[in-house]
Amino acid sequence: MNYGVEYNTKNLVVWNMINGNTKLTCLIGKDVRKSLSPAIHNYVYEKLNINARYLNFSIEESEIEDFIKSVKILKIPGFNVTVPYKESIIKYLDEIDETAKNIGAVNTVKNNGGKLIGYNTDGEGFLKSLIENNVKIENKKILILGAGGAARGISFFLCKRNPKLISIKNRNLERARKLKADLSCLYSNILFQEYNDKEKYDLIINTTTVGMNDPIASPYKLSEFDDCVIADIVYTPRITKFLKQGLDLGIKTVEGIEMLIYQGIIADEIWFDRSIESKDLLIEIMKLLQKNSKNSEK
Ligand code: ATR
Repeated sequence: MNYGVEYNTKNLVVWNMINGNTKLTCLIGKDVRKSLSPAIHNYVYEKLNINARYLNFSIEESEIEDFIKSVKILKIPGFNVTVPYKESIIKYLDEIDETAKNIGAVNTVKNNGGKLIGYNTDGEGFLKSLIENNVKIENKKILILGAGGAARGISFFLCKRNPKLISIKNRNLERARKLKADLSCLYSNILFQEYNDKEKYDLIINTTTVGMNDPIASPYKLSEFDDCVIADIVYTPRITKFLKQGLDLGIKTVEGIEMLIYQGIIADEIWFDRSIESKDLLIEIMKLLQKNSKNSEK
């Protein structure tokens, strides 16, 4: 008997059964029951024969301390953190990666032999989605819609690629100014400006929650003269109203689902100390999520 391993000949995938060596990775957040992360990570584990399983845990803020103890006792290799604990998790960690420190938020934690290290893979995942779609950043003029946690993660990573100009447009002006000030301290070579409707941007990124579960709301109205790339981090629906405007104008669009998948794969690279070729995985996981969402509509 081939104990612990089952071959699915149809898909030529080796499926690891749970056994004595199976590792647990997970997501914590206030309410993570609908998160797509388990589908993404468990697919990666099956496909790459990583003996691990990923689960979602909805917990209260007062339970984080005990959760941290469990991570150490159970030797969980790593976990993700989502709203609203990306900032409050920091005080429980032993070390924070430099970029996550600048961003002020952690979405990925690695357990390095009992020492917990915080990272932020949101911005890196987003950057990867742009790069894989051949979107150029160097010397470009970028408009970021929003100034929340996601905007911070994304803008710090974009700045590493030397854009010419970054404008931040946010409902709460103070938040936009704070982000602009934090970025300016670190990147003196980049121009940081207030939003200007006369400026011609090369890339417009929605980092707000506008459009989430709302197919008619858009954070920005494109004009017929806009000739730029647009990217949305919202992925439900996959084609948001914002992206739809771009598609109607025939301009290049980048979907939020790509960032979600890449940030997950980058977390697995950190937890399991290996590099993962993500191009094919992205396509396969996108298909899987599409199929799952069709099934859940039934
Ligand atoms: P995240 O971690 O996902 O970025 P967040 O920090 O709460 O979440 O940020 C949400 C972003 O969406 C903010 O830029 C927020 O604008 P404010 O800073 O003005 O609150 C933006 N946002 C949310 N709802 C919005 C709305 N109805 N109109 C415009 N912007 C909105």
